[in-house]
Amino acid sequence: MKTAHDDHPTLDQAAEILRGGGICAFPTETVYGLGADATNSDAVLAVYEAKGRPRFNPLIVHCADREMAERLVTFPAGAEALAALWPGPLTLVLPRRADAGISDIVTAGLDTLAVRIPAHPLAQSLIRAVGRPLAAPSANPSGKLSPTTAAQVRRAFGGRVPVLDGGPCQAGLESTIVAVDGERLVQLRAGAMSREEIAFAVGRPVEVAPKDANVAAPGMLRSHYAPAADLRLDAAEPLPGEAYLAFGPSAVAEGPRCRNLSPSGDLHEAARNLFSALHEIDASGVARIAVAPIPDSGLGEAINDRLRRAAAPRD
Ligand code: TXA
Ligand code: MG
Repeated sequence: MKTAHDDHPTLDQAAEILRGGGICAFPTETVYGLGADATNSDAVLAVYEAKGRPRFNPLIVHCADREMAERLVTFPAGAEALAALWPGPLTLVLPRRADAGISDIVTAGLDTLAVRIPAHPLAQSLIRAVGRPLAAPSANPSGKLSPTTAAQVRRAFGGRVPVLDGGPCQAGLESTIVAVDGERLVQLRAGAMSREEIAFAVGRPVEVAPKDANVAAPGMLRSHYAPAADLRLDAAEPLPGEAYLAFGPSAVAEGPRCRNLSPSGDLHEAARNLFSALHEIDASGVARIAVAPIPDSGLGEAINDRLRRAAAPRD
């Protein structure tokens, strides 16, 4: 039975929904996830259905701590230094244990599993309260912009999905995904922890996955994170009729159709604001958004990755 609490559940109510095989969105420090009990195939199927997500695209499984993760995957020697960076905005693709008990639908048939221990206190409390790992893709319809606030999730699903509200996400970009391939560390998706930061922390280089590595991270479709408007990248200024997404000191004034990702040119701030700014400008109904050039260093790699996918031709 649907109750008044269903749309705005408390932590206990959200845990109850998930334990009962329902789906519920929850905050992480990167973006909001659309969660389901990863051991329950029907619940996981409901996530794919709600998102309109292709079944070949596997999900990230969220654990409360290392002990929970150990029951799902094995940690080759090369993974230890990476796992030491948890909790945080980092997802590791590791060999799945045969006795993991995770629904096959989560992995889309792969023998690896993408695992993450989020740092957000509400996400951790929720996973603990459910007592099971949570499969959770970003809480947006497939191909659309990822949500960084509860309101964006509610809007994207027309209020049909309950959302545990934890305020705006601190990082604002999805987690970085790294696979351990023997001695090599391969970044499958740029994200909220920059490649430089990871390489520095583990004392080893992190390679970029080759262009044809779509199989390794099946979800890295060329068109993704797309607003309704078209995007024009590397634009020094907007043309008449275009909205503008600026970065750094800019002569273009703020207004309903113009946003500056970071007036001071700070890439962390720009990452945090990226999806929200696109959501807001998009809501104005403008046909095209011009985007200022963003440096490709540090978090710029992930920001530019999202912008290129948002600008890519749509099917
Ligand atoms: O920050 C995030 O990572 C958010 C929050 C909610 O955790 N989640 C997220 O999930 O961005 P999603 O489903 O939007 O993206 C997951 C990506 C997809 O590109 C998928 O193909 C890839 O992870 N992936 C999942 N399992 C994989 C595996 N076993 N091997 C390679 N890639 C995998
Ligand atoms: Mg996503």
